[in-house]
Amino acid sequence: MKTLSDLIAEGVSGRRVLVRADLNVPLDGDKITDDGRVRASVPTIKALVDAGARVLVAAHLGRPKGAPDPALSLAPVAKRLGELLGQDVVLGEEAGGDGTAVLLENIRFDPRETSKDDAERAALADELAAKADAFVSDGFGVVHRKQASVYDVAKKLPHYAGGLVLAEVEVLHKLTPGDDAADSRPYVVVLGGAKVSDKLGVIANLLTRVDRLLVGGGMAYTFLKAQGHEVGRSLLQEDQLEQVAGFLAQARERGVELVLPVDVLAATDFAPDADYEVVPASAIPADRQGLDIGPESRELFAAKLADAKTVFWNGPMGVFEFEAFAGGTRAVAEALVKSDAFTVVGGGDSAAAVRALGLPEDGFSHISTGGGASLEFLEGKELPGVSVLED
Ligand code: 3PG
Repeated sequence: MKTLSDLIAEGVSGRRVLVRADLNVPLDGDKITDDGRVRASVPTIKALVDAGARVLVAAHLGRPKGAPDPALSLAPVAKRLGELLGQDVVLGEEAGGDGTAVLLENIRFDPRETSKDDAERAALADELAAKADAFVSDGFGVVHRKQASVYDVAKKLPHYAGGLVLAEVEVLHKLTPGDDAADSRPYVVVLGGAKVSDKLGVIANLLTRVDRLLVGGGMAYTFLKAQGHEVGRSLLQEDQLEQVAGFLAQARERGVELVLPVDVLAATDFAPDADYEVVPASAIPADRQGLDIGPESRELFAAKLADAKTVFWNGPMGVFEFEAFAGGTRAVAEALVKSDAFTVVGGGDSAAAVRALGLPEDGFSHISTGGGASLEFLEGKELPGVSVLED
């Protein structure tokens, strides 16, 4: 696989370089609430700009319905990218002068970007390829998508892996240690987030690899129910109960410690100021819903992380956006910061939580920019946006 360093060594001064970045950041109106992905995209773009390239950046924001949507314009991102690069970045259609960066408007405004029809995607990829002499794939968060600006365009231009993609892939390889990798065990995975259905594949695969699996967040209630507990009005995916019961059995058979919350904060409503009480996870009142793991669970999870040598964490433990229910997520994050293990935070909400809770980013070995991408890798799936770079 050719890399950014190879491209720079070939010489990029005056050449048009298309960079696919993942600049899909959370917005509140036109304010970026977490610029982590923009910051993570800067080193590759800067290296090219500094080497005199005419950089054209392609990226998406949200999931527009294949048509322009002003609420999903990349304009605020262009502004932030410019601040971080130390030079203006304009939204435009073509690369600018030597040593500049131009950002294309949200590539998903064009329905061909995400089309399932190969010919439609190829047509957009042709248009993109006509605007550049080389392609650098650096949007790690989107490499699990077989989309025109991620996958198809790499087939049409000399292609190179950017620094972020390389770094992320290297970390993920460390998260798939063999059984003989004693120095990376205990290997503990912490999963949270709302829906267990989003994580079925990764749980199935991780149960063959990890020593311990800690489950919190909304998805824990389906596990508790599968164990025979009533969960009141907590999030529950009835249609996943059988599958989850299978995971519990598989964990027992394989000797994987599957750790669930032992107490929860049971609230009257889904609201920041909801009335709540700490109850055992086995006795959630019928009229209440669990919005966070309780204090005993926080201690239990921290204890189960204390001797780990490798940790992967994806998904918050509760509704961390509400201060009253952020304690579980904070406890897990703090346990990771304290740990000497190789600790990886797997993108999306958990990465945003780390920053929103004000935890030091350098307290973790790696904070991934890709939630879905890292989960799909750990699920054992091929990442099309990475394999296409190998040809
Ligand atoms: C993400 O936010 O995980 C990436 O930017 C991919 O976005 P998508 O899930 O809309 O493809």
